[in-house]
Amino acid sequence: MIDRFVALVQQRLGLVIDKGQWGELEPLLAERAAGAVERYLERLASSSSQEEWKALAERLTVGETYFLRHLTQLETLVDEVLPSFLRQSSNIRVLCAGCSSGEEPYSVALLARERGRVDASRLRILGIDVNPRAIALARRACYSSWSLRAVPVALRDQWFKRTPEGFALRPQVRDQVIFEERNLLEDAPAFWAPGSFHAILCRNVVLYFPPEVTRRIIARMAQALVPGGFLFLGPSETLRGISEEFELLRRGDAFYYRRLPTSPTAMTSRPPPLLPPPPSVAALPRSTSTPPPVDGLEAVLRLLEAERYTEAWARLEALPQEEQPRALLLRAVLHLHAGRLEAAEHLGRQLTSAGATEAPAQYLLGLCLEQSGNEVGARSRYTAAVRADPTFALGYLRAGTLARRAGDLADARVGLRMALSLLPQEKPLYLSLFGGGFGRHGLMQVGLQELHACTEVP
Ligand SMILES: C[S@@+](CC[C@H](N)C(=O)[O-])C[C@H]1O[C@@H](n2cnc3c(N)ncnc32)[C@H](O)[C@@H]1O
Repeated sequence: MIDRFVALVQQRLGLVIDKGQWGELEPLLAERAAGAVERYLERLASSSSQEEWKALAERLTVGETYFLRHLTQLETLVDEVLPSFLRQSSNIRVLCAGCSSGEEPYSVALLARERGRVDASRLRILGIDVNPRAIALARRACYSSWSLRAVPVALRDQWFKRTPEGFALRPQVRDQVIFEERNLLEDAPAFWAPGSFHAILCRNVVLYFPPEVTRRIIARMAQALVPGGFLFLGPSETLRGISEEFELLRRGDAFYYRRLPTSPTAMTSRPPPLLPPPPSVAALPRSTSTPPPVDGLEAVLRLLEAERYTEAWARLEALPQEEQPRALLLRAVLHLHAGRLEAAEHLGRQLTSAGATEAPAQYLLGLCLEQSGNEVGARSRYTAAVRADPTFALGYLRAGTLARRAGDLADARVGLRMALSLLPQEKPLYLSLFGGGFGRHGLMQVGLQELHACTEVP
């Protein structure tokens, strides 16, 4: 039964569910089917199951996101890509496909205003996602400090209003983005009409899909872009083996794609539908999972680096329970990402007493305190981390950032300069565990911006 459920999920939502995670789906199937699994699967396969698919999308999709994620790509978009269309078009249209709770499209709106290269009145941003709950959150536009963790304080204070529920985005930015609930696999010729968008961001979405689904989604996007339009994927996603309709471009550590003028699908009619008419349950393939390439803790680390936290957790849980410090650190970091602060802190404390892990454990405890709003406590943990390991660049970076926020500019400058000089040699394990999706280069950029901000504050 579970294999049929998995096959239906892949067919409707595109999501590949690794065999190692099938066990986790069983309680979900039992809950939704309420004792009548056979009948439930038939209902899912029929065309009268829209509402149930929405409920499943809410439970199965991974919505990890935050403001200013993969910053260099966003800067490239607002500084170079969008201005390049200003002469030829009165309105510049951007699509964020798989926008989750809205941080990505709002980041585009916010950064465009900050940089001032594109007049906001000419910029139209649309966010789509299959998860109805994510779209509701996006429309609400009120965020936690964790969502804003990569946003410099000055920017945060300018564009968000602190409310008892969180940081509410100011209406002038909020109203610039519209949201729609939409499944990327559904055939919608009017939506994907040729020339609909100047740029499409589809970041950290297709990594959950099998190659044949990605291929057809990308073909549809190529068609929907204006000639010479741009496509941005996540850092662990590539068009290699997927599409030849784009050229790869690079700016700093940001990679992105431009549709070639003679793109084959642009000349033809629309690509074939992604969702075939619903098959009978019996006709579904038995197994469709693609085994991941690496095993063990390394695989968990790779998933963590790609910010696929839910999968990383499932993979870690499937491993024999290891007591070695690296496994415990990974577990603690994943607790933190899931908001289980107490569990993360508990492990962090345990690890501070083991000499070799004192520095990363102190850093982790700092992150826990920062997430619960205690920046003073967090700063002293980061200081303890660099005391335990004086080459710990990330420790200096956070300590320096918090010092700047507290107005201790001399301390901030020292910490940030140390961070910048040590980052080129930072341990790969620390970058994987704590890099938060930024590569070494991205972290250098963050450090430079922070240092710059120290000199700007009077
Ligand atoms: C990891 S989030 C990425 C969010 C954002 N693009 C970013 O990079 O920060 C992936 C999003 O893709 C959405 N998604 C997954 N399958 C989808 C589908 N078939 N159609 C539309 N959205 C989908 C999920 O609901 C989730 O919100």
